[in-house]
Amino acid sequence: MSRLVLISNRVSIDRSAKNKGSEGGLAVALNAALRRLGGLWFGWSGEVSDDSSMNMHTATADNVTYATVDLQQADYDEYYFGYANRTLWPLVHYRLDLVDFHRRYSAGYFRVNSLLCSQLLPLLQPDDIIWVHDFHLIPMGGQLRQAGCGQQIGFFLHTPWPAVEIFRALPQHDVIVRALFAYDLVGFQTERDLGAFVSYITHEIGGRVDPDGTAHAFGATTKIGAFPIGVDTENVAQYSEVEGKSRMTRRLMDSLGGRDMIIGVDRLDYSKGLIQRMAAYEHLLENYPDNRGRVVFMQISPPSREDVPEYINLRHELETAAGHINGAYAEFDWVPTRYLNKGFRRETLTGFFRASRVGLVTPLRDGMNLVAKEYVAAQDPDDPGVLVLSRFAGAAIQMTAAVIVNPYDIEATGEALQTALHMPLDERKERWSEMFDDLSRDDVLSWTNNFISVLTDNGDGSQ
Ligand code: G6P
Repeated sequence: MSRLVLISNRVSIDRSAKNKGSEGGLAVALNAALRRLGGLWFGWSGEVSDDSSMNMHTATADNVTYATVDLQQADYDEYYFGYANRTLWPLVHYRLDLVDFHRRYSAGYFRVNSLLCSQLLPLLQPDDIIWVHDFHLIPMGGQLRQAGCGQQIGFFLHTPWPAVEIFRALPQHDVIVRALFAYDLVGFQTERDLGAFVSYITHEIGGRVDPDGTAHAFGATTKIGAFPIGVDTENVAQYSEVEGKSRMTRRLMDSLGGRDMIIGVDRLDYSKGLIQRMAAYEHLLENYPDNRGRVVFMQISPPSREDVPEYINLRHELETAAGHINGAYAEFDWVPTRYLNKGFRRETLTGFFRASRVGLVTPLRDGMNLVAKEYVAAQDPDDPGVLVLSRFAGAAIQMTAAVIVNPYDIEATGEALQTALHMPLDERKERWSEMFDDLSRDDVLSWTNNFISVLTDNGDGSQ
């Protein structure tokens, strides 16, 4: 049996309480998959050090070996802060207004990929299956090939792949796409992302894509496909049953005093539509006054990428927006918004999800959004809450039984909240069971097996 080697910028090891809850869907999902399958997980330690030898840290837990390396300050600045967070991230989330491109960022990006590659090489075995994740590490596959790696190497993009007109705004966009052709398989979250990539290949490069998903361009070929990521549905459901009765969840419910709760859980990121979400909630209170005193909106937003200016600004804006609503509507015995600028353990959140009448997930653009899936997986089958979901989350393509909204339409989102809060039990159950069945079938393990079976081309997911 081959060993699975995952490579991602962020590796999920509980290094510090500081990162609790802010790691994002990628780390959570990969952790769930790898703990079940076993293997090696390689990436950045999250630390910056002065030592040019990159300091490799290894740890083993639950048949997973974690190997991480530190970055030096210039590497962090150019590769992570710069190219990943200020160039690629806003680009793939359609925020051309926020894209900040510099040649030194792009040079740092390729340099750090190559440094990581050289650290990884001695850890590899000839029959490993290598799976590289996300936008930080696109060049890694080609660099591994150049170093002589003959193993099967796949790549999965957790973020959206944007429309051609957006992607073309990236200087040397073709260099990035060419790098993807070094992989045996390139996976996207949805057919929408896959379609945008195909359109780039055919219209921008003059390449072609065969009906079986083989893409031809730059004199090379790679297989491409859509592999929507799932969550560890069974695990989330089991946790939520226990956590739903935990002391913390009981304290939360006591504090609500019988009021309905709307919950939002997102990294503090401009792609999540948090400002529009606050405005939609305000619209609900303003236009449906029966909710005043009866509903509480709890937004949990752990800080993320705290040195990037756009994230600092967003934090101020969100504090202002939450404060504004409380200032305008609070009563001596009711505060409408609870804004928590910190994270919670995943397990704790399952209890909070179960205690909430509505899960509000309204990104302006999102690769998948696993909070939407976890919210549904955590519900009580006898009294499930309602998911209000942005059409711009990849999850909306699968979760059609959610109340789907356009987050730019503040009034309509406010009205959707009113619908969700007053939805009859029968309809809630019907919508929930449709989504839960899908989530149980298409969970994170089936996602992993699917991707690996296409990568290794053996059709049955065995390694
Ligand atoms: C998104 C990205 C991940 C990333 C996560 C957290 O989910 O797709 O690759 O790890 O955000 O962001 P961070 O910059 O803290 O790793």
